[in-house]
Amino acid sequence: MSQGSWLPLKYPPVSGPYKERILSWPWWARTPPMCEEVFIGVRFEEGMERVMSIKVAINGYGTIGKRVADAVDAQDDMVIIGVTKTRPSFGCDLAVRKGYPLYCTYDDATKIDAFAPAGYECHGGLSDLLKVADIVVDCSPGKVGAANKEAYVNAGVKYIFQGGEKHAMAGMSYTSSANHQENLNGSGTRVVSCNTTGLSRTLVPLYEHCGSLSVECTMIRRAADPGDSAKGPINAIKPVLKVPSHHGPDVMTVKPQIDINSMAVAVPTTLMHCHSIVATLPEGHGLTTERVLELWSNNPRIIIMNGGETGITTTAEVMEYARDIGRKWGDLHEIFVWEDGVKLSGNTLYYFQAIHQESDVIPENVDAIRALMGTEDDWRVSVAKTDAAIAIYNGI
Ligand SMILES: NC(=O)c1ccc[n+]([C@@H]2O[C@H](COP(=O)([O-])OP(=O)(O)OC[C@H]3O[C@@H](n4cnc5c(N)ncnc54)[C@H](OP(=O)(O)O)[C@@H]3O)[C@@H](O)[C@H]2O)c1
Repeated sequence: MSQGSWLPLKYPPVSGPYKERILSWPWWARTPPMCEEVFIGVRFEEGMERVMSIKVAINGYGTIGKRVADAVDAQDDMVIIGVTKTRPSFGCDLAVRKGYPLYCTYDDATKIDAFAPAGYECHGGLSDLLKVADIVVDCSPGKVGAANKEAYVNAGVKYIFQGGEKHAMAGMSYTSSANHQENLNGSGTRVVSCNTTGLSRTLVPLYEHCGSLSVECTMIRRAADPGDSAKGPINAIKPVLKVPSHHGPDVMTVKPQIDINSMAVAVPTTLMHCHSIVATLPEGHGLTTERVLELWSNNPRIIIMNGGETGITTTAEVMEYARDIGRKWGDLHEIFVWEDGVKLSGNTLYYFQAIHQESDVIPENVDAIRALMGTEDDWRVSVAKTDAAIAIYNGI
C-alpha cells in the first residue's frame, strides 16, 4: 500500500485534469496494476502542478457504492482505482460505462472467471484490488461488512464502513460536522447511517451554540429504497420494538455530549425518512425560532424551505424538488427542514426534517476519506471542496 501518490495534474503537451486524460487512455493503461507504473513512471518536470491523489477502492457497488464512486470521481484529490461486484449482474454495466475497473468481491477463481462469459472484464479479486488501494470504502449490505475488516487490516489499507455496521466493530464513527478532527489519520471509521447523519447535521450546530442539548426524536422511516423489492411493510406501520432505536445512541458515537433518545417506525414509502424532533435547550440559550433557522442556514448541507409558500409540504415534493436540482439519481445530499415546522417555545425546540436515505451520507464518505488520509483537517474546507466538485460533476 502507498499513502497516496503524487500525480502530475498537468503534463505537457496534454492539458486538462489528469482524470480526463486517464479515462481517455486505452483500458490496459488504466488497469490498476499498471496504473501505479503509469502514474509514477511519468517524469515530473519543473513548473508542473502536482496533486495528491488518493487511490480509493469501493467494495460493494450497490445503492451507496455507486454513488460514493461518482462522488469520489468528481474530486481532484482522489481517484477510483476499482469497484467490486459479487457476480456479473446489471450494476457492472454502469461501472464499465464510468471507466471504473471491475473486480470480484471474492478471490475465488471460479467467481472471478464468471465475469468474462457475461462480457465483463474482471481485473481480479478483492485482494488484488486492495494491493493497489490506499483506502477502501466498504459499501456491502448491512452487517456483511464486518467480515471484510480482516482483509483490509491484513492488506494494510485504511477502511470506511457504512451505517449498517456496528460502531464497536469499526472502532470509530464519522460525520463531517461532528468529529472530522477525531478521525484525522485514523486507520478506519464508519460513516453513520442516513438517519444519524441527518440528526447530526441539525443537532451538532445547536449543541455547539448551546453547550448542552437533550433530545427526544422519532424517525418515520421509509420501508425500502426505490430499487429494493425485498423489504416492507407495504400496508402497515411497523414500530421498531427496540427502545430506544439505534439512531439516538448512534448520534452519541460522533457527538457523545448530546443527550439523545429515539424511537422509530417504518412506513410504506420509498422516498425519504422524516424526523419529528423535540430538543430541550439549556437555560440562557439566547435563541429564537428565527435565530435557530439562521444558525442552520449558516451550516452546510441543510436546506430550509417554507412549505406553505413553496408548496413543498410532503416528502414527495421534496424529492421532486431534488430531481429539479439535477443531481444524478435525483439525489438530495442536504437535510430538508420545513421552516414553518420549526417552533422554539421557551427552552423547547420542535422541528421536522426529511432525509434522502440513499444520498445524504455520500458526501460524508468523501470527507471521511480526507480525514483518514490526513489531507484536510478543516471539516468546513473539506465539505466545501466536496460539494463544489460534485456540483461541477453534475453540471449544476
Ligand atoms: N440504502 C440506504 O438507504 C442506505 C443509507 C445509508 C447507509 N446505508 C448502508 O450502506 C451499506 C450499503 O447499503 P446499500 O443500500 O448500498 O446496499 P445494496 O444496495 O444492497 O448494495 C450492497 C452491495 O454490496 C455487494 N455485496 C454483497 N455481498 C458483499 C460482500 N460480502 N462484500 C462486499 N460487497 C458485497 C452487493 O453486490 P452485488 O450487487 O454484486 O450483489 C451490492 O452491490 C449498508 O451498511 C447500509 O446499511 C444504506
